[in-house]
Amino acid sequence: MTSADKQKVAQFLDLTADYLGSGYKSEKKEYTFNQSQPKTDPNTIEGIAEEIRSCRNCALCEKRLNAAPGEGVLQPLVMVIGEGPGEDEDKQGRPFVGKAGQLLDKMLESIGLSRTTNTFIANVVKCRPPNNRDPYPEETNACSHFLERQISLLKPKFILIAGRVSAQTLLKTTESIGKLRGKFTELIVGNDKYPLLVTYHPAALLRNEDYKRPSWEDLKLLKSKLTGE
Ligand code: URA
Repeated sequence: MTSADKQKVAQFLDLTADYLGSGYKSEKKEYTFNQSQPKTDPNTIEGIAEEIRSCRNCALCEKRLNAAPGEGVLQPLVMVIGEGPGEDEDKQGRPFVGKAGQLLDKMLESIGLSRTTNTFIANVVKCRPPNNRDPYPEETNACSHFLERQISLLKPKFILIAGRVSAQTLLKTTESIGKLRGKFTELIVGNDKYPLLVTYHPAALLRNEDYKRPSWEDLKLLKSKLTGE
């Protein structure tokens, strides 16, 4: 609604109040309304990010400091999808910026990927689940349209899923991460199919060294696809 439209509505309501009250038209009041800023096109990555930052579709919005919509290049070679913001991400409003994020950046770098050149990084839920618990199904469901719209706009050549929660959510399965990782499968979003690889979450690698070797195997597999070898 423009500020001129708002003026008209306000004056109409004043007039109605006058007639219902005294029956006489009182002195005309002047209202000023700020012209609201046009919203960024919702069919853009920044438009979706704006929506995410003001989203109140599930209870996670109540405790968040900042939503972390995602970041990286448009038209990425790879889109990495994690679980949801942790404490550092919630403070900064950016995905994967804490210890796990720093490890993720190193892992990506080892195969020629980075969020500044050829990768986009996002999460299944965009607001921090309290105490880093797994997001509830109603939370992943409420958030899923954001991720689907991001994927449809970015059209990554490959998707790398980090961790059990994001893998099970996106692949709609309860299969263990040990079974899901290490092989390419396909994700269908809209009319498009994306080659998708699941690997361990970098936070799991920080907790358990045993995951390092299989993670490296996964990265090598991704690299071989990227270079067409
Ligand atoms: N873990 C995630 O899954 N995503 C983040 O952004 C940070 C930690």
